Amino acid sequence: TTMSLESAKKIASTKAVDDFLKNNTVVGIGSGSTIVYAVERIAEHVKNNQWNLKFVPTSFQAKQLIHKYNLPLTDLESNPELDLCIDGADEVDGKLNLIKGGGGCLLQEKIVASCAKTLVIVADNTKNSTYLGEKYKKGIPIEVVPLCYLPIMNKIRNKFGGTISLRMAQCKAGPVITDNGNFILDWIHSDIEANWEKINVELLQIPGLIETGLFINMAYKAYFGMPDGSVKVQL
Ligand code: A5P
Repeated sequence: TTMSLESAKKIASTKAVDDFLKNNTVVGIGSGSTIVYAVERIAEHVKNNQWNLKFVPTSFQAKQLIHKYNLPLTDLESNPELDLCIDGADEVDGKLNLIKGGGGCLLQEKIVASCAKTLVIVADNTKNSTYLGEKYKKGIPIEVVPLCYLPIMNKIRNKFGGTISLRMAQCKAGPVITDNGNFILDWIHSDIEANWEKINVELLQIPGLIETGLFINMAYKAYFGMPDGSVKVQL
């Protein structure tokens, strides 16, 4: 049998939670459609084992999920150090570098992940690639201060090439506004074997560019739900 993508997301999330969730810890909750299955599983553990856990959201969506399952909500002021952060990704390459921010939540996702001892990624098999940009064709998401979105687009295009666009909203006129009140650019860079670590550092030097969706050397393990119903773990 070939599993649906939703089933693949669910088996990956379930196994990752079963492997990494421990009692008396603080856990970061990522954003997107895959993380929903992870939170479902976390809620089962909390209920069945009476576990004492606290959760830091990475987005408004994550906060709503934490509320929906009646899990204890905390923040980086009360809990600046997390044991675990679990999140989805738009793409995971062979070195566990990630593209994130397809859902626009990259800034808080990267902040919370950076405060966690361990970042674990959950995804279906279509997210697994050799080079970043090989499968995720929408480009690298980049969060910017609204007033300078246009000069930043020009600077990136002039320095690195490629095509870059301002992400537009679907159900409202105008651009997507992030949870932090900023805009998102999507940058499609054609060089598949680019040095993303270096590019990431250079991008972050542009004034007004807040954060990129390049997560370099941050993830510890990735769990992929495979079409045959197995879970592939990448270390
Ligand atoms: C949110 O901004 C993203 O970084 C998500 O983590 C990523 O898009 C994964 O989402 P899905 O689980 O819906 O694919």
